Amino acid sequence: MIVTIDGPAGSGKSSTAAAVAGRLGFRHLDSGAFYRALTWAVLAAGIPTEHWHSLTTAQLDALNVRGEPAGSGYRLFAADQDITGLIRSVEVNANVSPVAALPAVRVWLLDRLRSAALGVDLVTDGRDMGTVVFPGAEQKFYLVADAAVRARRRLLERGEAAHDPERLQSEIGRIEARDRIDSTRAVAPLRRPADAIDLDTTNLTFDQQVGVIVAHVMEWRRVHG
Ligand code: DC
Repeated sequence: MIVTIDGPAGSGKSSTAAAVAGRLGFRHLDSGAFYRALTWAVLAAGIPTEHWHSLTTAQLDALNVRGEPAGSGYRLFAADQDITGLIRSVEVNANVSPVAALPAVRVWLLDRLRSAALGVDLVTDGRDMGTVVFPGAEQKFYLVADAAVRARRRLLERGEAAHDPERLQSEIGRIEARDRIDSTRAVAPLRRPADAIDLDTTNLTFDQQVGVIVAHVMEWRRVHG
């Protein structure tokens, strides 16, 4: 069974997907982590920004970025280096949206994300998991939340002062900029899957949003066996 959770930056998809997977005994595939790993590798290889649009499949292959199943999720590798702990840096944050907008990158990752689903029950989160990568997923969710709430969550996640109005305002700006790039790019933009269940998490606690999704999936399983 495949469960997809899509939504904008900071809507709580990845942590929610991880907790839902844990509760259901499914594997968790955080697709954003794959885009981040590739971005880290492109930056580490020193490929200049002006060459990104002409990146070839062979160049992407050479970065040797891959996810290896570990625990209930995946660890991300570039060649022999485990980069799981390095992909949420400010530098990767600033560059991941343009890298994820490259058609060659999306094509390259499509097969890899799909093969991760073979033979396992999966909860996966991202921007296009329900629309492009797994259009036939059994259950799809679309998470939204106010930009201010998402910005506050991001600051807290990084251990920064979420009550400082200036920091909050600049984080809202960054989140809205990412939303704009992710939803206006030509290939696989962030879009609500037509058959998704909507979940506005602005006023929900983490446990509540996890609980709502788990309840939907359990009900689906009860009905479909
Ligand atoms: O969810 P996140 O912040 O880790 O995602 C990082 C970036 O990757 C984000 O800018 C959008 C992109 N992304 C994407 O384009 N498609 C996905 N399925 C997942 C992430």
